[in-house]
Amino acid sequence: MAQRIQGTEDLVGGYMRAWQHMQDVARELFGAYGFDQIETPAIEQVDTFVHGIGASTDVVRKEMFRVFSGALMERILAAGGEGGLKARQRMALRPEGTAGVVRAAVEGNFVPQGAAPAKLWYAEAMFRGERPQRGRLRQFHQIGVEVLGAPDAAVDAECVIMLMEFYRRLGFDATKLQLRVNSMGDASCRTRYRERVRTFILAHRDEMCDDCLERADINPLRAFDCKNERCHEVMRDAPLVTDNLCDDCEAHYAQVKAYLDEAGLAYVEDPTLVRGLDYYTRTVFEVDALASGVGAIGGGGRYDGLMELEGGKPTPGIGFAVGFERIALALAAQGGTLETPAPGCVYVACAAPEQRQAVFSATLALRQAGVRTEADYQGRSLKSQFKQADRLRASVCVVIGADEVATASVTVRDMRTHEQLLVPAAEFVGRVRALLG
Ligand code: HAM
Repeated sequence: MAQRIQGTEDLVGGYMRAWQHMQDVARELFGAYGFDQIETPAIEQVDTFVHGIGASTDVVRKEMFRVFSGALMERILAAGGEGGLKARQRMALRPEGTAGVVRAAVEGNFVPQGAAPAKLWYAEAMFRGERPQRGRLRQFHQIGVEVLGAPDAAVDAECVIMLMEFYRRLGFDATKLQLRVNSMGDASCRTRYRERVRTFILAHRDEMCDDCLERADINPLRAFDCKNERCHEVMRDAPLVTDNLCDDCEAHYAQVKAYLDEAGLAYVEDPTLVRGLDYYTRTVFEVDALASGVGAIGGGGRYDGLMELEGGKPTPGIGFAVGFERIALALAAQGGTLETPAPGCVYVACAAPEQRQAVFSATLALRQAGVRTEADYQGRSLKSQFKQADRLRASVCVVIGADEVATASVTVRDMRTHEQLLVPAAEFVGRVRALLG
């Protein structure tokens, strides 16, 4: 039997309706904040991710799925490596949405000089070659937003406020969510800070794991995220980014917090929050659903240098993304659900095979009027058609027998009250719609 790849899921039935519901909530909420939807390709040049996310991040080094056509693969095998490939032939499935949106913004000049910020949201599948476990998939779905062209701390605060409102509208109990915020500094103060962390790790080289020692040189801040208990312990005494911010970054962070306070939002300052992607500058934030055991249900931050890294003009940016699958699990752990009820329908039943033609026409007429309509295609008896109608949660049945055909009418039966009425064929669609409310 053909099998699904581990760490992937089929979205169907209630699970699909949950994903659609989440997108509906996003469309309405983000629309009110002036966001338009964007969809970028699922495959991009490897460089788009390397430049943005960072060559030394786990996402790029270990988790990115590379894409090769069969023909390209043959060439690579024949050449003994991909060294001869042009940048445009080196492709990957997107592990996240920000780099692609920023690449699109550079290419499409979404933020010309003097223009208002570009505000975009997306709902897309992402791909990361992680070890599958609960809440950690290899193909998962994110809803995210990106604001390009606005340096103001008010935008950082608005993004966070919008994110927390999104969770509220999805049905989360806000008291069971934890919002953590931090500032990562900018190009100038972070470089100094990274060096201080590197020196700290090397000074504790005997106590730290090999991975962290490797990280010391390529990406020292990652050591804050090390799963090794000992490293975690050591890193508690490491220099904190918030003690190493330049004046501008400190003022920006203070302003963000002042706006969050003014909005009455509860948050925890976490100076060890470094996030797993290299493009962040200044504000970063992450949200956990307490006691859900699924890890972060969303996160984001500012990335003022990313447009330039992708070849564009200096343009500040900020955004966040949430994971659909984790949110579904976390909400279930709180006793909630994203699922909306399965839609009901109208069922057109046929008393005998001679009325098939009339049933066919009635079904078409209802569907043309936008009514979700089902009929029998398996030659069932009238009794089993009614059973089928119940299973399909039909609230109205249209019954057509010999008498109805002879009098150019149909019987409309309200399945909730069991009342039925003979209605002229020319009027039945209106009658059914009125019953459906
Ligand atoms: P991220 O923190 O890597 O950020 O991912 C955002 C969310 O996607 C996570 O909080 C989590 O809910 C979900 N997620 C990540 N990896 C997986 C996985 N393997 N399985 C299931 N869910 C997962 C970003 O991706 C940034 N692009 C967010 C952003 C937008 N920053 C600025 N703009």
